[in-house]
Amino acid sequence: MKKITSALIGLAISLLASAQTTVKVHDTAEDQPVIAKEIYGQFAEHLGRCIYGGIWVGPDSEIPNIDGYRKDLVEALQVLKVPVLRWPGGCFADEYHWRDGIGPKEDRPMMINSNWGGTVEDNSFGTHEFFNLCELIGTEPYLSGNVGSGTVEELAKWVEYITAKGGTMAQLREKNGRKEPWHLKYLGVGNESWGCGGSMTPEFYSDLYRRYATYCRNFDGNTLYKVASGASDYDYNWTKVLMSKIGQQMHGISLHYYTVKGWTGSKGSATVFDTDSYYDILAKSVEVDEVITKHETIMDVYDPEKKIDLLLDEWGTWFDVEPGTNPGHLYQQNTMRDAMVAALSLNIFHNHAERLKMANIAQIVNVLQSMILTKDDQIVLTPTYHVFRMYNVHQDATYIPLTYKAEEFLSPSGRPMPQLSVTASRNADGRINVSIVNPMLDKEQTITLDFEEYKPENVKGEILKSKNINDYNDFGKAPAVAPAQFDGFKAKKDQIAVTVPAASIINLTL
Ligand code: AHR
Repeated sequence: MKKITSALIGLAISLLASAQTTVKVHDTAEDQPVIAKEIYGQFAEHLGRCIYGGIWVGPDSEIPNIDGYRKDLVEALQVLKVPVLRWPGGCFADEYHWRDGIGPKEDRPMMINSNWGGTVEDNSFGTHEFFNLCELIGTEPYLSGNVGSGTVEELAKWVEYITAKGGTMAQLREKNGRKEPWHLKYLGVGNESWGCGGSMTPEFYSDLYRRYATYCRNFDGNTLYKVASGASDYDYNWTKVLMSKIGQQMHGISLHYYTVKGWTGSKGSATVFDTDSYYDILAKSVEVDEVITKHETIMDVYDPEKKIDLLLDEWGTWFDVEPGTNPGHLYQQNTMRDAMVAALSLNIFHNHAERLKMANIAQIVNVLQSMILTKDDQIVLTPTYHVFRMYNVHQDATYIPLTYKAEEFLSPSGRPMPQLSVTASRNADGRINVSIVNPMLDKEQTITLDFEEYKPENVKGEILKSKNINDYNDFGKAPAVAPAQFDGFKAKKDQIAVTVPAASIINLTL
């Protein structure tokens, strides 16, 4: 109680304080990392209405589609620029048998999706449907292999089926309508192998990884990038054991971090929340910074040259399902609070660009913190979608270090929370993008961006902000949250003064 009271007093004091921050932009700093575009990755799981209804309606559907994929979704994703798409799970992956999802649809067996509501899965969306989708939206596939309930032979043959030019697997693929192999880079060897992926110890999993990885071959010029199934948020021992026992036999190790109130009891509503819960969720989301840093510190011990990448291949908010929907389908709405979580998280990911080479938000459509929601033939772009679209300018851009002092306060549950977050990068055509997040609900902030050496020119701004922090975009209604042009800045000599409204996300391009 004492902690909460002092946190609230701290917050009140900070709200009264004047908010003027100078941000020094070290644009000429050398040897800066590239912000891997894969940090803007997505995740598609056979869960609820993510695949069926969200992505895939089938070619005979009355919903406008391109060879079975929703046309509205494909178009929205093309605008978003999705660099990488992870599939088929999640927990689903370790019960998925790929041979059930190839060949004539009528011959594909049914299965029970026991992780997600016991829904019957007809396997009509399988390997061909996934890889063709990746080609359609111009994204890199990331396959999550079944280690928990599959076999080494099964995973090895899946890789061969997808990537080999000759042999029986290639013949089978051709018989099923695809002569040329697909390109496959990212291969996940299991998912959450400590939990739904087999309840293993890190020692046992490490040995299993080495065995599976041995037989997943590079065929005909296709080179695999193998990802070991990593830790859940605070499980540092898992990372330690995998680093020591697998080491350079993995290209990357994954990590999962969800912004969730707690794993037992109510996770809170996605749309109905008070100020305390707003700051608590944001503070939990920025704790990912410390979690990533701790995993990186362990990795540095075993791999000081940073040859092994860290991949945050599941992250995002996790609330109670929308009332009246299947509890196993994890369908949640998405408000301006989710947009704040997305922007604050992406700013943090940029700071870890040296080691963090991928992040996949869960999930792309109709589950958890989605980009898109669908209902029959209607589609809604969520506030999180808008952040990802505004921020896609940072994909593969060079990180620009900044120095500034963001005041901190304790959220009601006692987690530290910055009052301001800024990130910057320079892209291939020389443009600088500065993204600013003001999470404070009642405080406009003035930021001076100090470029030290040159005069910024041709500055253009875009802002995401809504009337109420729990506003969301809903079916059949005008969007309540949408980006708009932003003119609240003044460039003078080598500085730009920006007036950042309360609870807003801004991107400046110059
Ligand atoms: O995203 C939902 C689930 O969360 C995934 O299937 C699993 O990997 C994680 O526990």
